[in-house]
Amino acid sequence: MSVAGKTIAITGAARGLGQEFARYLARCGADVVLGDLNDCAATLALVEQAGGKGAAVRLDVTDPASARSMVDAAVDRFGRLDGLVNNAALYGALHGGRFDAIDDAEWDACMAVNVKGIWNCCKAAVPAMRQAPVQEAGGGSIVNIASLAATYGMPFGLHYTASKAAVIGITRGLARELGRDRIRVNALAPSAVLTEGTTEFFGDKLDRALQAVKAQQTIQRNLVPGDLTGTVAWLLSGESGFVTGQTIALDGGTVML
Ligand SMILES: NC(=O)c1ccc[n+]([C@@H]2O[C@H](COP(=O)([O-])OP(=O)(O)OC[C@H]3O[C@@H](n4cnc5c(N)ncnc54)[C@H](O)[C@@H]3O)[C@@H](O)[C@H]2O)c1
Repeated sequence: MSVAGKTIAITGAARGLGQEFARYLARCGADVVLGDLNDCAATLALVEQAGGKGAAVRLDVTDPASARSMVDAAVDRFGRLDGLVNNAALYGALHGGRFDAIDDAEWDACMAVNVKGIWNCCKAAVPAMRQAPVQEAGGGSIVNIASLAATYGMPFGLHYTASKAAVIGITRGLARELGRDRIRVNALAPSAVLTEGTTEFFGDKLDRALQAVKAQQTIQRNLVPGDLTGTVAWLLSGESGFVTGQTIALDGGTVML
């Protein structure tokens, strides 16, 4: 599965899944651009320990100029941009609760980061991806991180569920627009993964939530970040070159799409 020599930008790379994607892709030989509101120095150190090269940038996905700066950093440092992993989201910081108790401002923030943030990053990245010097089999690839929240219909976090359903919609619509540019767009829909974000989101209900998630799966264990990395790398590689517009469930067989 070759991502070697590709340059891949990963949003939300300071911790959690984004950090794990960066480390894995670097180990596979990709150059990685690490964007986050928070400092990505720890992720960059992991990338370098894995023998890879990276560039860390401050990124606010809600700001189109900031998204363009991330792409400029990729092109300045590595001369190309082949892939984008839209992973940044408001997740751990959100408050669960009944649909009619969700705070208005929190609803808007969730949509601004989880939905509009992806649009901003795609608008910034696609022109550079069109220019990528070697359009080998597969061409450019965008991987959007959706969620089981959308495919299953998670209750008590309707803003998050709605935002992740929008991610699937963006994936499908954009895949149809960008096929002619040899840029593919796919999404992942993972169930609950053991990350700091999950711990924050579920708080003292974490164990109960993980048990409930597991009970719906045919594979009887909870997901860990390493369960996602191979699929992300495959979607970014030429080996998935005819796969676009798809949402791949990484949920142990909960929702069969
Ligand atoms: N962990 C799970 O169980 C799970 C399950 C399904 C989907 N997901 C999705 O996977 C992705 C990563 O999940 P995680 O658990 O690692 O989340 P996390 O909350 O641990 O990490 C999210 C990262 O995004 C960054 N971020 C937030 N707002 C940003 C902004 N405006 N600009 C740039 N960066 C910003 C944060 O600083 C953080 O580093 C998210 O899209 C999440 O919705 C997670």
